[in-house]
This record gives sequence, C-alpha cells and structure tokens, in this order.
Amino acid sequence: MHRGLRLPGGGTRLGGDLTPAASSPGLVQRVFGAEFPSPVLLASGTCGYGQEYADLIPLDEIGGLVTKAVSLEPRPGNPPHRVAETPGGMINAIGLENPGLHGFIAEKLPWLREHLRRAHVFVNVVGHSAEDFAAVVRGLDGEDGFLGYEINVSCPNVKGGTMFGTDERALADLVVRLRGCTERPLVIKLTPNVPDVGDFARICEEAGADGLSAINTFPGMVVDIGRREPLIGNKSGGVSGPAILPMGVYATWRARQTCGLPIMGIGGIRNADDALQYILAGACLVQIGTASFVDPGAAVDVHEGISKYLEANGVARLEDLVGALQARPGAGPAIPAG
Ligand SMILES: Cc1cc2nc3c(=O)[nH]c(=O)nc-3n(C[C@H](O)[C@H](O)[C@H](O)COP(=O)(O)O)c2cc1C
Repeated sequence: MHRGLRLPGGGTRLGGDLTPAASSPGLVQRVFGAEFPSPVLLASGTCGYGQEYADLIPLDEIGGLVTKAVSLEPRPGNPPHRVAETPGGMINAIGLENPGLHGFIAEKLPWLREHLRRAHVFVNVVGHSAEDFAAVVRGLDGEDGFLGYEINVSCPNVKGGTMFGTDERALADLVVRLRGCTERPLVIKLTPNVPDVGDFARICEEAGADGLSAINTFPGMVVDIGRREPLIGNKSGGVSGPAILPMGVYATWRARQTCGLPIMGIGGIRNADDALQYILAGACLVQIGTASFVDPGAAVDVHEGISKYLEANGVARLEDLVGALQARPGAGPAIPAG
C-alpha cells in the first residue's frame, strides 16, 4: 500500500474514518470570523473543487480548501504539456482552466455546500480586469457554501496574471473595489515576484483586505533539449513545491512585519516541520499544494505532525506559536543584503 494511506492508528483515509481535528483541540484556529478545525487547508488548483479529493481524505476534518480559480467566463486553459516535474518540485501552466462563474455555481458549489460542514471553502477568483474580478465576487456573493474569497492577483502562467499583484496602485484600487462588493472575508493571494512583498501586504491591509495568502508560484521554464523547445505548451509556467519553501516562509515573515492581517502560508509544504516554519514566521493557517500530488494524505499528516509538535513542546494552543519566531538581538535588516 502507498506509504501515505496507512495511518498509525490503522485507519484508512479512503474510508473517511479518521478524526484528526476532533483529537486536537489545540489546533483549532479562530480567524476570518470562523472556527477552523485544523490549520491545514488544500491550496487552489491542487484539489479541484473538492469532490475530486473526497474519496482520498476526510475533507471535512481538515481546515478547508481553496477552490480552483473561478473567472467570469469559462476558460479552456493552456495547450499541453501543462505540467512537468522539476528538481525540487514541479512547473505548471494549466492556464486557469475553469467552468466560469455560472458553471461553478451550477456544477461545483452544490457539492461543496452539501458535503463540507466544518471545513471552510475559499473561492479563488481571477479576472482579466478589475471589473471581471468584481463581477465574479458580486455574482457569487448571494450564494451559500463558502466562507470567503481568495483573490488571485499572482498567477504567472496566464497573460496579465500578475498584473494586479505587481503594481501597487492597481492592487490598491482592486482591493478597494472588491471590498465594496462583499462583506465576506477577502484574502489577497500575493506573488513573491516583487521587490518587497511587505509593501504589497501593507497595501492590501490599507485597502481593506481581511487576510493574505503567501505565496503563489514563481515563473520558470523547462527546456526539452531533444526538440530544442520549451517543454511546457505555454513556454513558461509556475514553479511550486519544496524548492520554493524558503521563499514562501520569507514572504510570510515580511508580510507579518508590515501588516497585521491573518496570513495563510503556502509554498513547498510537505510535512509538519515545513508548516511550522510558516507558522513561526507569522502564518495562522497553511495550505498544501504540490505535496498532495505526491501523497494525497499530506494534509492529514501535516495536521497530525503539528499536533505532535504541540504536545512534545508543551504548547497548549497553536496560536501561541503564530509569529513566535525568535529574532536574534542585532539581527540584520529585513531584506537580505547582497
Ligand atoms: C497544478 C497547479 C494549479 C494551480 N492553480 C492555481 C489557481 O487556479 N489559483 C491560484 O491562486 N493558485 C494556483 N496554484 C498555486 C498553488 O495554489 C500554490 O500557491 C503553489 O502551488 C505553491 O504551493 P505548493 O508549493 O504547496 O504547491 C496552482 C498550483 C499548481 C501546482
């Protein structure tokens, strides 16, 4: 049997008979006006719209999931190849394929509404323009079945995908506009591809966001040396997985230094030790992406590993660790010096 599917207690993830959250009251996180039974969520684009994972792990017992992106109109995505392995992770250029706002409401949301009772759902939103983003948020806001929005201003593998995430004025205007469209939690997913992610975190807070997700993927390329062409149909794509862990932890720490918003830490998390780096750097929740492709049970393992860490270190509540990174006296500036 696959290593990841056998649990210490003899249970199986496939049967959904595991109750990690129930056994770990210290891991409950109260944030975004809600109670998360676990600090561990599944990252956008890596768990479909939930249903795809339902037979693999007890979804309702992790903290929740972020849906694949939803745009105003359906998108077909990019030409193949869309994914490839890289040293230390993978590259993807799916191209935000999705059924569009109305397809999501008709085909995907009903399942989420019916099946997830404790785990929370964020809908990942994309748009070509500020009006596009606003139309998706307005179109969804009257619906049940999800807690809030994760606004994707940071996708490197579609034209204009990082436009809002790398332009301070455009980002501020977008967040102000979206704030006017909803009272639900509005979480902005930051790109690491800016000179200082801390500046962008502060802009989001000042413009009225409720939280941040840090980080999305890095632009990258894989070359097929036989054909002397880029391997990925889109030529370039977004690099994710263990290779980006230090960058994600750094971005989380920088964001924590410049603003007080709750942060979901994302990037390269494979195990509880990785997740705890994000938590100590300032994240109150974490998201697992690429690791779930290697082991669909990674999120459950991370939950259990964090629980064991709390117990072993005599920490009653996870929130006592959030941002608890020890700064060495006389430590250098926030931006690494050359
Ligand atoms: C195949 C794939 C599809 C993705 N699709 C989206 C998406 O639709 N929206 C988004 O905001 N992020 C998307 N991401 C980025 C992930 O949510 C996450 O930020 C990134 O992969 C870093 O986390 P990881 O290293 O744990 O994978 C995607 C990532 C992958 C690998």
